[in-house]
Amino acid sequence: MPASPTDSPEKIKDANTRYHDAAADSYDSKWGIDFGPIGQHQVRSKVAKALGRDPVGSLGDSLEIGAGTGYFSLNLAQQGLLDRVTVTDISPGMLETLATSAEGLGIEVETVVCEAEELPFEDESFDLVLGHAVLHHIPDLDRAFGEFHRVLRPGGRVIFCGEPSRYGDRLAALPKALGTAAAPVWRRMVGASALEDPVGNGAECSDDHELESEVDVHAFAPSDLRGLPGGAGFTEVRVSGEEAVANFWGWGMRSLEATAEPETVPLGWRKFAFRGYVTFQKLDSTVLEPRLPPELLYNLLLTAKKPG
Ligand SMILES: C[S@@+](CC[C@H](N)C(=O)[O-])C[C@H]1O[C@@H](n2cnc3c(N)ncnc32)[C@H](O)[C@@H]1O
Repeated sequence: MPASPTDSPEKIKDANTRYHDAAADSYDSKWGIDFGPIGQHQVRSKVAKALGRDPVGSLGDSLEIGAGTGYFSLNLAQQGLLDRVTVTDISPGMLETLATSAEGLGIEVETVVCEAEELPFEDESFDLVLGHAVLHHIPDLDRAFGEFHRVLRPGGRVIFCGEPSRYGDRLAALPKALGTAAAPVWRRMVGASALEDPVGNGAECSDDHELESEVDVHAFAPSDLRGLPGGAGFTEVRVSGEEAVANFWGWGMRSLEATAEPETVPLGWRKFAFRGYVTFQKLDSTVLEPRLPPELLYNLLLTAKKPG
């Protein structure tokens, strides 16, 4: 459920900082974030879908907005697709987790805690501004796109992926409801224990977990996203969509797992759920995505260019 339209931008940003700080330690396991070949393939294919072509060679000096634990930048950097890597987030906790992963992977990154609407960088310092699953959290998107345009060099590009579509959000309600209804039987089948404090959800303390309903500000129609970059001076705007069955599967699995104490969910089950997701992603990208309009897919992808 998105934040109330009457919430002030300050309240939304504060909720985002506290919620993501509390979630940082368990974020990668909760969302199945992978920095191996699977994760690298996922992000490369998202960028390829956004651009309409596979990225060949480096996309240049990059600035990620709302980088979280590093899913997008760290996986792209490992494939030599980024030069100087700068990552930002409103949550210091998420960037601490990212820095630890970057060190483990041997990737040099600059981490900067800041918000998208106010970037502490010189004009024209980057070739690429990118993000994954972040635009829907930002209260003032016109101001944020103004900042993206300012910090990009002429000819530079924005690429944003993983944005929930308004219709996809409605479609996701079904697997969420099915997962919740089937959860008691599923827990008995796999031997998982019911969550003792369903509000607290494991690592996240209850107060901050309750903020989950306050951190999402937007769910986009493709036309909303299409209209955003032009106001800031971008051209060559392209919006596409991805994921149908994979999303149905993913939300169903997440809704089951959210009802169990995380450490009691068997590893074999987690692997099964993750492999299923990856298999359905392949089905979506080969069969459904080329045939369905972005309106019917769950995640939206956006790219645009700063005139050179
Ligand atoms: C759904 S998470 C996605 C994280 C990461 N990009 C990924 O795909 O795994 C959204 C991230 O955006 C950050 N965020 C939320 N509001 C923000 C804002 N106004 N400015 C910058 N980052 C923000 C959150 O702290 C969080 O790390």
